Amino acid sequence: MRVDRFLSNLPCFNRQQVRLLLVERRVRIDGQTVNDPHAQVREFSRVEVDDQLLQAGRPTRYFMLHKPSGCVSATRDPQHRTVLDCLEEPDKEDLHIAGRLDYNTTGLMLITNDGAWSRRLTQPQTKLPKVYYVETEQAITDEYAEVFARGLYFAFENLTTLPAQLELLGPRSARLSIVEGRYHQVKRMFGHFNNKVLRLHRERMGPLLLDALLEPGQYRALSPEEVRLV
Ligand code: URA
Repeated sequence: MRVDRFLSNLPCFNRQQVRLLLVERRVRIDGQTVNDPHAQVREFSRVEVDDQLLQAGRPTRYFMLHKPSGCVSATRDPQHRTVLDCLEEPDKEDLHIAGRLDYNTTGLMLITNDGAWSRRLTQPQTKLPKVYYVETEQAITDEYAEVFARGLYFAFENLTTLPAQLELLGPRSARLSIVEGRYHQVKRMFGHFNNKVLRLHRERMGPLLLDALLEPGQYRALSPEEVRLV
């Protein structure tokens, strides 16, 4: 939200006062003085006027995990190990998953407490590609790429999937790039050809590539540059 709107939404300032506060350089966002009414206040920003704290702000946290097979993409589960069990971090209840993976799917999983950031990654509207390495039971023919590029009708959701790109790597292996994350989407796309997915591994989400140094179950914090890419 723009800082002028954020301030004038508060009961203590009207619009004229907000204009003056900015001109007089009395407003700070995350410690920086701002005079531009368009400056952005985010969920996690610390906002001060003179020495009065108006929004405390919280540190944002971003992690990349190499999800192992055999754990659930949930923050808690009564029976199974969850992806959060792989993280040794405080306040894990604040964290959520940006784009779930099935129990046996491996690969890139992003975990954060920043809801706006994870929405940008996962919303179909932003069209960020999610890239999967796929191995199947039966041979993959050239027809698959044409059908996936046109989109497949999913009766349950009553929608047609957005165009997806398939690159054949071998008789039964391929790289698939999709911009949505419908329920079991990749398995259902191959299921259209009655071809079972035997291995599924997410390599990339938008600009973020799974770090080759991370073994299954290992994770690391994202760098500020990586966070800004999304
Ligand atoms: N599509 C699937 O079918 N499963 C996943 O885990 C991810 C995408």
